[in-house]
Amino acid sequence: NPTPPIDSLRQIDISSMKTEGAVQNIPFVGRKRSLIEDARKERASGSSSPGPSRGGENFVFEEKEGTVTLNIIFALSHEKNAGFFKTGKVFETFEAKLLHIESRPGRKSKNSGCDDLEFFMRCEVHSSDTDIFINSLKRVADDVRTIPEEKVPWFPRKIRDLDKCNLLITKYDPDMDQDHPGFSDPEYRKRRCFIAELAANYRQGEPLPRVEYTPEEVATWREVYRTLRTIYPDLACRQFLGGLQQLERECGYGEDSIPQLREVSAFLKEKTGFQLRPVAGLLSARDFLASLAFRVFQCTQYIRHASAPMHSPEPDCCHELLGHIPMLADKEFAQFSQLYWFTVEFGLCKQNGTVKAYGAGLLSSYGELIYALSNEPEYKPFNPEETAIQPYQDQTFQPVYFVSESFEDAKIKMRRYSSSIQRPFSVRYDPFTCSLEVLDQPSKIQHALGQMRDDLKILHSALEKLG
Ligand SMILES: [Fe+2]
Repeated sequence: NPTPPIDSLRQIDISSMKTEGAVQNIPFVGRKRSLIEDARKERASGSSSPGPSRGGENFVFEEKEGTVTLNIIFALSHEKNAGFFKTGKVFETFEAKLLHIESRPGRKSKNSGCDDLEFFMRCEVHSSDTDIFINSLKRVADDVRTIPEEKVPWFPRKIRDLDKCNLLITKYDPDMDQDHPGFSDPEYRKRRCFIAELAANYRQGEPLPRVEYTPEEVATWREVYRTLRTIYPDLACRQFLGGLQQLERECGYGEDSIPQLREVSAFLKEKTGFQLRPVAGLLSARDFLASLAFRVFQCTQYIRHASAPMHSPEPDCCHELLGHIPMLADKEFAQFSQLYWFTVEFGLCKQNGTVKAYGAGLLSSYGELIYALSNEPEYKPFNPEETAIQPYQDQTFQPVYFVSESFEDAKIKMRRYSSSIQRPFSVRYDPFTCSLEVLDQPSKIQHALGQMRDDLKILHSALEKLG
């Protein structure tokens, strides 16, 4: 994967890269939008969701070109049966455009046996008429209220939806960035296109594509592997070293060949439930993080240019296989994969009184790994609120690193931080169907509780067996 740099630059779908050769000519337009900026603004304004606007009396609506869309509920009691026609008149007078109507037995009828009805209407009215329109309705109907409707951007619900999470950031693309070590090497660029195609054509559930690496590619890998391997014992955290040793024993890791995603994915699946998926380049932060919800790690398969084995401006297979995979083999760490930049990519943690590296950006870069632990840069304690808005450096070494007390401590802080992010519903991952369930109905919550009770029974009986 992609070191998802939170800033999105110009983003291009791989499908357009495939068909439009002209993409290469698009001028580099630089940073357009930054999630860090968004986070700062949200913090400054004290709200974390732009959401719909709120009119008087907390009526919630969306406003668009002089009209608002309202979701209104009102009740009509038996005595006011004629009220239905009167409400119709109100809709007519205000030229309300009806989008949806439903009726159901009212709340009162359930309790007292009277036969009132409740109506749900979705309609569009002129924004300037909103208040008077609602007041007019109140005169002819009971219990007039609106339902807040929040628009949520699309997100994948099923693991198969990850086929659509393929928005690439063409920041360090060798076809577009003149500073890329492969920019003036047509052979390298051709090879990159070939490997990118494998990822673009991949669909969830298919066997992961194999790449037959050339002797030159293996030589680059060998140099990276050999050099980094010598400094890992002193500078990498214990979880990384444990993971790497297992990969060397069980998954063919070594300097003589570049491991294939298929084998590595099967290995991870057994260890921590993570699986891999090929990606053509640096993925947008949103798509990359969305994949993690399914425990899917999007991995590049190409290798850095042979002229610069010690550093790559973009993720490549050395970064993924050496930087990320050994960490993902650790159960504790696999639980904690958020706030990417200063943790998963460049994080440090304390171990037995010494600071060690666990960030993949460090563990796959010889120069920065040594620098990060040299006492030269600034160190700050890991704190999600501060870390989330820390500007980062992706051209050279980081000026500041965040040090966690332990993974457990970082996980607790991270959980607390994510629970403060507002969203209109909660979600839960269902590992049996590999899908995200939106918990927006009591029945769904009840069902989830039932499953949890079954799990608890298993734990209970296990405890009993232990006496
Ligand atoms: Fe990365």
